[in-house]
Amino acid sequence: MTSLEKITCVEDLRRLAKRRVPRMFYDYVDTGSWTEHTYRSNESDFQKLKFRQRVAVDIHQRSIRTTMAGTPVAMPIALAPTGLTGMVHPDGEILAARAAERFGVPFTLSTMSICALEDVARHTTAPFWFQLYVMRDRGFMERLIHRARDAGCSALVLTLDLQVMGQRHKDIKNGLSTPPKPTLMNLLDLATKPRWCMAMKRTPRRSFGNIVGHVTGVDDMSSLASWTADQFDPTLSWKDIEWIKNTWGGKLVLKGVMDAMDARHAVDSGADALVVSNHGGRQLDGAPSSISVLPHIVEEVGREIEVWMDGGIRSGQDVLRAIALGARGTLVGRPFLYGLGAAGEAGVTRCLQILHKELDLSMAFCGRTDIGQVDRSILLNPQIFDDLSRI
Ligand code: GLV
Repeated sequence: MTSLEKITCVEDLRRLAKRRVPRMFYDYVDTGSWTEHTYRSNESDFQKLKFRQRVAVDIHQRSIRTTMAGTPVAMPIALAPTGLTGMVHPDGEILAARAAERFGVPFTLSTMSICALEDVARHTTAPFWFQLYVMRDRGFMERLIHRARDAGCSALVLTLDLQVMGQRHKDIKNGLSTPPKPTLMNLLDLATKPRWCMAMKRTPRRSFGNIVGHVTGVDDMSSLASWTADQFDPTLSWKDIEWIKNTWGGKLVLKGVMDAMDARHAVDSGADALVVSNHGGRQLDGAPSSISVLPHIVEEVGREIEVWMDGGIRSGQDVLRAIALGARGTLVGRPFLYGLGAAGEAGVTRCLQILHKELDLSMAFCGRTDIGQVDRSILLNPQIFDDLSRI
Protein backbone atom coordinates (compact mmCIF):
# COMPACT_ATOMS: atom_id res chain seq x y z
CA MET A 1 0.00 0.00 0.00
CA THR A 2 1.47 3.34 -1.04
CA SER A 3 0.91 6.18 1.41
CA LEU A 4 -0.67 9.07 -0.44
CA GLU A 5 1.36 11.53 1.66
CA LYS A 6 4.44 10.41 -0.22
CA ILE A 7 2.71 11.28 -3.48
CA THR A 8 3.82 14.88 -3.92
CA CYS A 9 3.35 15.64 -7.62
CA VAL A 10 1.37 14.59 -10.67
CA GLU A 11 4.37 12.65 -11.96
CA ASP A 12 4.21 10.40 -8.85
CA LEU A 13 0.57 9.66 -9.67
CA ARG A 14 1.45 8.91 -13.28
CA ARG A 15 4.12 6.39 -12.29
CA LEU A 16 1.81 4.62 -9.88
CA ALA A 17 -1.03 4.57 -12.42
CA LYS A 18 1.30 3.00 -14.96
CA ARG A 19 1.91 0.14 -12.53
CA ARG A 20 -1.77 -0.38 -11.66
CA VAL A 21 -3.78 0.23 -14.82
CA PRO A 22 -3.94 -2.43 -17.56
CA ARG A 23 -1.56 -1.44 -20.30
CA MET A 24 -4.09 -0.82 -23.05
CA PHE A 25 -6.00 1.67 -20.88
CA TYR A 26 -2.89 3.36 -19.51
CA ASP A 27 -1.62 3.73 -23.08
CA TYR A 28 -5.00 5.05 -24.24
CA VAL A 29 -4.57 7.91 -21.75
CA ASP A 30 -0.86 8.57 -22.16
CA THR A 31 -0.83 8.83 -25.94
CA GLY A 32 -1.01 11.44 -28.65
CA SER A 33 -1.76 10.98 -32.33
CA TRP A 34 0.85 9.96 -34.94
CA THR A 35 4.33 11.32 -34.02
CA GLU A 36 2.97 12.80 -30.76
CA HIS A 37 4.63 16.12 -31.60
CA THR A 38 1.60 18.16 -30.52
CA TYR A 39 1.07 15.97 -27.47
CA ARG A 40 4.64 16.69 -26.32
CA SER A 41 4.63 20.39 -27.16
CA ASN A 42 1.46 20.91 -25.13
CA GLU A 43 3.60 20.13 -22.07
CA SER A 44 6.96 21.53 -23.10
CA ASP A 45 5.66 24.95 -24.23
CA PHE A 46 4.43 25.64 -20.71
CA GLN A 47 8.03 25.42 -19.47
CA LYS A 48 9.05 28.29 -21.75
CA LEU A 49 6.97 30.80 -19.77
CA LYS A 50 8.99 32.24 -16.86
CA PHE A 51 7.51 33.81 -13.75
CA ARG A 52 8.59 37.12 -12.19
CA GLN A 53 9.42 36.35 -8.59
CA ARG A 54 8.36 39.17 -6.25
CA VAL A 55 9.27 39.56 -2.58
CA ALA A 56 8.22 41.45 0.54
CA VAL A 57 4.57 41.60 -0.52
CA ASP A 58 1.95 40.75 2.11
CA ILE A 59 0.67 37.40 0.83
CA HIS A 60 -0.86 36.25 4.10
CA GLN A 61 -4.51 36.14 2.88
CA ARG A 62 -4.99 34.48 -0.50
CA SER A 63 -7.81 33.20 -2.69
CA ILE A 64 -7.82 31.19 -5.88
CA ARG A 65 -11.61 30.85 -5.98
CA THR A 66 -13.38 32.04 -9.10
CA THR A 67 -16.25 31.04 -11.41
CA MET A 68 -16.37 29.08 -14.66
CA ALA A 69 -19.43 29.79 -16.81
CA GLY A 70 -21.21 30.95 -13.69
CA THR A 71 -20.27 27.89 -11.60
CA PRO A 72 -18.35 28.83 -8.41
CA VAL A 73 -15.08 26.85 -8.33
CA ALA A 74 -12.47 26.31 -5.62
CA MET A 75 -9.81 26.99 -8.26
CA PRO A 76 -9.94 27.66 -12.03
CA ILE A 77 -9.87 23.97 -12.90
CA ALA A 78 -12.55 21.55 -14.10
CA LEU A 79 -12.06 17.85 -14.75
CA ALA A 80 -11.95 17.37 -18.52
CA PRO A 81 -14.22 14.89 -20.32
CA THR A 82 -12.24 11.71 -20.97
CA GLY A 83 -13.44 8.52 -22.64
CA LEU A 84 -13.18 5.08 -20.98
CA THR A 85 -12.55 6.55 -17.52
CA GLY A 86 -14.34 3.59 -15.96
CA MET A 87 -11.65 1.35 -17.45
CA VAL A 88 -8.77 3.36 -15.95
CA HIS A 89 -10.35 2.42 -12.62
CA PRO A 90 -13.56 0.42 -12.13
CA ASP A 91 -16.49 2.86 -11.56
CA GLY A 92 -14.00 5.61 -12.48
CA GLU A 93 -16.49 8.28 -13.53
CA ILE A 94 -18.46 8.01 -10.29
CA LEU A 95 -15.28 8.13 -8.20
CA ALA A 96 -13.85 11.13 -10.07
CA ALA A 97 -17.18 12.98 -9.95
CA ARG A 98 -17.36 12.45 -6.18
CA ALA A 99 -13.80 13.68 -5.66
CA ALA A 100 -14.50 16.76 -7.79
CA GLU A 101 -17.72 17.46 -5.93
CA ARG A 102 -16.01 17.28 -2.55
CA PHE A 103 -13.21 19.53 -3.73
CA GLY A 104 -15.53 22.10 -5.28
CA VAL A 105 -14.57 21.80 -8.95
CA PRO A 106 -16.75 20.71 -11.88
CA PHE A 107 -16.61 17.18 -13.28
CA THR A 108 -17.34 16.67 -16.98
CA LEU A 109 -18.77 13.32 -18.01
CA SER A 110 -17.81 12.13 -21.51
CA THR A 111 -20.37 10.69 -23.93
CA MET A 112 -17.93 7.76 -24.16
CA SER A 113 -17.94 7.11 -20.42
CA ILE A 114 -18.40 3.69 -18.89
CA CYS A 115 -20.79 4.82 -16.12
CA ALA A 116 -24.06 6.15 -17.53
CA LEU A 117 -24.99 9.73 -16.83
CA GLU A 118 -28.04 8.72 -14.74
CA ASP A 119 -25.76 6.46 -12.69
CA VAL A 120 -23.29 9.30 -12.03
CA ALA A 121 -26.21 11.58 -11.06
CA ARG A 122 -27.46 8.95 -8.57
CA HIS A 123 -24.04 8.79 -6.90
CA THR A 124 -23.40 12.54 -6.63
CA THR A 125 -25.27 15.58 -5.37
CA ALA A 126 -23.55 18.47 -7.21
CA PRO A 127 -24.60 18.95 -10.82
CA PHE A 128 -21.90 17.83 -13.26
CA TRP A 129 -21.24 18.88 -16.86
CA PHE A 130 -21.93 16.62 -19.82
CA GLN A 131 -19.73 16.38 -22.91
CA LEU A 132 -21.37 15.66 -26.22
CA TYR A 133 -20.00 14.51 -29.57
CA VAL A 134 -21.81 15.45 -32.71
CA MET A 135 -23.05 12.15 -34.09
CA ARG A 136 -24.84 11.25 -37.28
CA ASP A 137 -27.81 9.85 -35.38
CA ARG A 138 -29.43 13.16 -34.43
CA GLY A 139 -32.30 11.33 -32.72
CA PHE A 140 -29.84 9.69 -30.34
CA MET A 141 -28.11 13.03 -29.75
CA GLU A 142 -31.40 14.66 -28.93
CA ARG A 143 -32.24 11.89 -26.46
CA LEU A 144 -28.81 12.25 -24.87
CA ILE A 145 -29.30 16.01 -24.49
CA HIS A 146 -32.66 15.41 -22.79
CA ARG A 147 -31.14 12.73 -20.57
CA ALA A 148 -28.40 15.16 -19.54
CA ARG A 149 -31.01 17.77 -18.69
CA ASP A 150 -33.08 15.26 -16.72
CA ALA A 151 -29.95 14.18 -14.82
CA GLY A 152 -29.48 17.81 -13.73
CA CYS A 153 -26.30 18.51 -15.75
CA SER A 154 -25.51 22.21 -15.53
CA ALA A 155 -23.50 22.72 -18.73
CA LEU A 156 -23.10 21.00 -22.06
CA VAL A 157 -19.54 20.77 -23.36
CA LEU A 158 -19.66 20.22 -27.11
CA THR A 159 -16.53 18.71 -28.63
CA LEU A 160 -15.88 20.12 -32.10
CA ASP A 161 -12.55 18.55 -33.03
CA LEU A 162 -13.51 14.91 -33.38
CA GLN A 163 -15.43 14.72 -36.64
CA VAL A 164 -12.89 12.11 -37.61
CA MET A 165 -10.50 10.37 -35.24
CA GLY A 166 -6.72 10.93 -35.12
CA GLN A 167 -4.71 7.72 -35.20
CA ARG A 168 -3.05 6.66 -31.97
CA HIS A 169 -0.64 3.88 -32.86
CA LYS A 170 -0.64 2.24 -29.43
CA ASP A 171 -4.41 1.72 -29.42
CA ILE A 172 -4.16 -0.26 -32.65
CA LYS A 173 -1.15 -2.26 -31.49
CA ASN A 174 -2.79 -3.03 -28.12
CA GLY A 175 -6.11 -4.00 -29.73
CA LEU A 176 -7.94 -1.54 -27.44
CA SER A 177 -11.40 -2.83 -26.53
CA THR A 178 -13.88 -2.51 -23.67
CA PRO A 179 -13.60 -4.77 -21.78
CA PRO A 180 -10.24 -6.26 -22.90
CA LYS A 181 -10.39 -9.42 -25.01
CA PRO A 182 -8.93 -12.56 -23.38
CA THR A 183 -5.82 -12.70 -25.59
CA LEU A 184 -2.55 -14.10 -24.22
CA MET A 185 -1.00 -10.60 -24.18
CA ASN A 186 -3.94 -9.18 -22.21
CA LEU A 187 -4.12 -12.10 -19.79
CA LEU A 188 -0.41 -11.79 -19.01
CA ASP A 189 -0.81 -8.06 -18.45
CA LEU A 190 -3.94 -8.45 -16.30
CA ALA A 191 -2.13 -11.00 -14.14
CA THR A 192 0.10 -8.11 -13.00
CA LYS A 193 -2.89 -5.85 -12.20
CA PRO A 194 -4.72 -7.77 -9.42
CA ARG A 195 -6.36 -4.72 -7.77
CA TRP A 196 -7.89 -3.60 -11.03
CA CYS A 197 -9.13 -7.13 -11.82
CA MET A 198 -10.69 -7.61 -8.39
CA ALA A 199 -12.49 -4.26 -8.47
CA MET A 200 -13.62 -4.84 -12.06
CA LYS A 201 -15.08 -8.19 -11.05
CA ARG A 202 -17.19 -6.45 -8.41
CA THR A 203 -18.71 -3.81 -10.70
CA PRO A 204 -21.39 -4.29 -13.35
CA ARG A 205 -20.12 -1.16 -15.21
CA ARG A 206 -18.00 -2.53 -18.04
CA SER A 207 -19.34 -1.02 -21.21
CA PHE A 208 -20.31 2.37 -22.64
CA GLY A 209 -23.15 3.19 -20.26
CA ASN A 210 -24.56 6.15 -22.18
CA ILE A 211 -24.94 4.09 -25.32
CA VAL A 212 -25.53 0.38 -24.75
CA GLY A 213 -29.25 -0.22 -24.37
CA HIS A 214 -30.07 3.28 -25.65
CA VAL A 215 -29.46 2.76 -29.36
CA THR A 216 -31.30 0.18 -31.39
CA GLY A 217 -29.04 -2.68 -32.43
CA VAL A 218 -26.32 -1.90 -29.87
CA ASP A 219 -26.60 -4.51 -27.16
CA ASP A 220 -23.09 -5.91 -27.10
CA MET A 221 -19.46 -4.94 -27.51
CA SER A 222 -18.89 -5.90 -31.09
CA SER A 223 -21.79 -4.00 -32.59
CA LEU A 224 -20.83 -1.07 -30.37
CA ALA A 225 -17.31 -0.88 -31.81
CA SER A 226 -18.58 -0.50 -35.34
CA TRP A 227 -21.31 1.87 -34.20
CA THR A 228 -18.84 4.33 -32.64
CA ALA A 229 -16.51 4.19 -35.64
CA ASP A 230 -19.44 5.11 -37.89
CA GLN A 231 -21.10 7.62 -35.63
CA PHE A 232 -18.84 10.68 -35.39
CA ASP A 233 -20.25 13.13 -37.90
CA PRO A 234 -17.85 14.51 -40.53
CA THR A 235 -20.55 16.87 -41.86
CA LEU A 236 -20.72 18.95 -38.64
CA SER A 237 -21.21 22.68 -39.28
CA TRP A 238 -22.02 25.81 -37.24
CA LYS A 239 -25.70 25.33 -38.15
CA ASP A 240 -25.70 22.09 -36.15
CA ILE A 241 -24.37 24.01 -33.17
CA GLU A 242 -27.33 26.35 -33.34
CA TRP A 243 -29.65 23.32 -33.28
CA ILE A 244 -27.80 21.82 -30.30
CA LYS A 245 -27.86 25.13 -28.42
CA ASN A 246 -31.62 25.44 -28.89
CA THR A 247 -32.30 21.80 -28.02
CA TRP A 248 -30.20 22.04 -24.86
CA GLY A 249 -31.29 25.52 -23.72
CA GLY A 250 -28.64 25.82 -20.98
CA LYS A 251 -24.98 26.79 -20.60
CA LEU A 252 -22.97 25.76 -23.64
CA VAL A 253 -19.18 25.31 -23.83
CA LEU A 254 -17.47 24.74 -27.20
CA LYS A 255 -14.31 22.67 -27.00
CA GLY A 256 -11.59 22.33 -29.61
CA VAL A 257 -11.05 25.91 -30.84
CA MET A 258 -7.49 26.62 -32.02
CA ASP A 259 -8.04 29.42 -34.51
CA ALA A 260 -9.19 33.02 -34.13
CA MET A 261 -11.72 32.70 -36.96
CA ASP A 262 -13.31 29.70 -35.26
CA ALA A 263 -13.25 31.61 -31.97
CA ARG A 264 -15.27 34.36 -33.68
CA HIS A 265 -17.81 31.74 -34.85
CA ALA A 266 -17.97 30.46 -31.27
CA VAL A 267 -18.83 33.97 -30.03
CA ASP A 268 -21.46 34.37 -32.77
CA SER A 269 -23.01 31.03 -31.80
CA GLY A 270 -23.89 32.51 -28.40
CA ALA A 271 -21.86 29.93 -26.42
CA ASP A 272 -20.95 30.78 -22.83
CA ALA A 273 -17.32 29.63 -23.04
CA LEU A 274 -14.86 28.16 -25.51
CA VAL A 275 -11.98 25.84 -24.77
CA VAL A 276 -8.71 26.36 -26.62
CA SER A 277 -7.86 22.72 -27.15
CA ASN A 278 -6.16 20.35 -29.55
CA HIS A 279 -7.75 17.39 -27.76
CA GLY A 280 -4.64 16.72 -25.69
CA GLY A 281 -2.56 16.27 -28.86
CA ARG A 282 -4.73 13.29 -29.84
CA GLN A 283 -6.17 14.69 -33.07
CA LEU A 284 -4.22 16.97 -35.48
CA ASP A 285 -0.57 16.08 -34.97
CA GLY A 286 1.51 19.13 -35.96
CA ALA A 287 -0.98 21.62 -34.55
CA PRO A 288 0.62 24.12 -32.14
CA SER A 289 0.34 23.65 -28.40
CA SER A 290 -2.83 25.02 -26.77
CA ILE A 291 -0.89 27.43 -24.51
CA SER A 292 0.88 28.96 -27.52
CA VAL A 293 -2.35 29.94 -29.32
CA LEU A 294 -4.19 30.99 -26.16
CA PRO A 295 -2.96 34.65 -26.11
CA HIS A 296 -4.05 35.30 -29.68
CA ILE A 297 -7.53 33.88 -29.08
CA VAL A 298 -7.88 35.84 -25.84
CA GLU A 299 -6.90 39.01 -27.69
CA GLU A 300 -9.51 38.35 -30.39
CA VAL A 301 -12.52 37.32 -28.29
CA GLY A 302 -11.58 37.39 -24.61
CA ARG A 303 -13.82 40.37 -23.90
CA GLU A 304 -16.87 38.67 -25.43
CA ILE A 305 -16.69 35.07 -24.19
CA GLU A 306 -14.94 33.14 -21.42
CA VAL A 307 -11.82 31.58 -22.90
CA TRP A 308 -10.60 28.40 -21.21
CA MET A 309 -7.81 26.08 -22.25
CA ASP A 310 -6.65 22.49 -21.88
CA GLY A 311 -3.70 20.38 -22.99
CA GLY A 312 -0.38 19.80 -21.28
CA ILE A 313 -1.25 20.97 -17.76
CA ARG A 314 0.78 18.93 -15.29
CA SER A 315 1.01 21.33 -12.36
CA GLY A 316 -0.58 24.28 -10.63
CA GLN A 317 2.23 26.39 -12.11
CA ASP A 318 0.91 25.50 -15.58
CA VAL A 319 -2.59 26.58 -14.54
CA LEU A 320 -1.10 29.87 -13.29
CA ARG A 321 0.67 30.38 -16.65
CA ALA A 322 -2.61 29.80 -18.52
CA ILE A 323 -4.46 32.28 -16.28
CA ALA A 324 -1.63 34.79 -16.75
CA LEU A 325 -2.08 34.55 -20.52
CA GLY A 326 -5.79 35.29 -20.20
CA ALA A 327 -7.55 31.95 -19.66
CA ARG A 328 -10.54 32.27 -17.31
CA GLY A 329 -10.39 28.57 -16.53
CA THR A 330 -8.66 25.31 -17.42
CA LEU A 331 -9.61 21.68 -17.94
CA VAL A 332 -7.31 18.91 -16.76
CA GLY A 333 -7.57 15.38 -18.11
CA ARG A 334 -4.49 13.21 -17.76
CA PRO A 335 -3.48 14.43 -14.26
CA PHE A 336 -6.80 13.34 -12.73
CA LEU A 337 -6.74 10.08 -14.70
CA TYR A 338 -3.28 9.33 -13.27
CA GLY A 339 -4.72 9.98 -9.81
CA LEU A 340 -7.69 7.74 -10.53
CA GLY A 341 -5.53 4.92 -11.89
CA ALA A 342 -3.14 5.23 -8.97
CA ALA A 343 -5.65 5.24 -6.10
CA GLY A 344 -9.26 5.68 -7.24
CA GLU A 345 -11.25 8.47 -5.61
CA ALA A 346 -8.49 9.25 -3.10
CA GLY A 347 -6.03 9.55 -5.98
CA VAL A 348 -8.21 12.12 -7.77
CA THR A 349 -8.51 14.06 -4.53
CA ARG A 350 -4.74 13.91 -4.12
CA CYS A 351 -4.29 15.24 -7.65
CA LEU A 352 -6.62 18.16 -6.92
CA GLN A 353 -4.82 18.90 -3.64
CA ILE A 354 -1.46 18.94 -5.43
CA LEU A 355 -2.68 21.29 -8.18
CA HIS A 356 -4.39 23.55 -5.63
CA LYS A 357 -1.29 23.91 -3.47
CA GLU A 358 1.01 24.48 -6.43
CA LEU A 359 -1.28 27.13 -7.88
CA ASP A 360 -1.82 28.93 -4.58
CA LEU A 361 1.86 29.02 -3.55
CA SER A 362 3.16 29.93 -7.01
CA MET A 363 0.68 32.80 -7.22
CA ALA A 364 1.99 33.97 -3.83
CA PHE A 365 5.63 33.81 -5.01
CA CYS A 366 4.59 36.12 -7.85
CA GLY A 367 3.32 38.58 -5.23
CA ARG A 368 -0.41 38.15 -5.90
CA THR A 369 -3.08 37.26 -3.40
CA ASP A 370 -6.14 36.73 -5.58
CA ILE A 371 -6.43 34.74 -8.79
CA GLY A 372 -8.45 37.64 -10.22
CA GLN A 373 -5.29 39.83 -10.03
CA VAL A 374 -3.20 37.44 -12.11
CA ASP A 375 -2.33 38.79 -15.54
CA ARG A 376 0.54 38.89 -18.04
CA SER A 377 2.63 41.03 -15.72
CA ILE A 378 3.46 37.99 -13.55
CA LEU A 379 5.43 36.61 -16.51
CA LEU A 380 8.85 37.78 -17.69
CA ASN A 381 8.21 36.72 -21.28
CA PRO A 382 4.45 36.73 -21.95
CA GLN A 383 5.10 37.64 -25.59
CA ILE A 384 7.06 34.52 -26.57
CA PHE A 385 4.20 33.05 -28.59
CA ASP A 386 3.38 36.30 -30.41
CA ASP A 387 5.17 35.27 -33.63
CA LEU A 388 3.01 32.22 -33.91
CA SER A 389 -0.19 34.23 -33.63
CA ARG A 390 0.88 36.63 -36.37
CA ILE A 391 1.10 33.80 -38.92
C1 GLV B 1 -11.68 10.61 -27.29
O1 GLV B 1 -12.13 11.67 -26.98
C2 GLV B 1 -10.28 10.36 -27.34
O2 GLV B 1 -9.49 11.31 -27.41
O3 GLV B 1 -9.92 9.18 -27.33
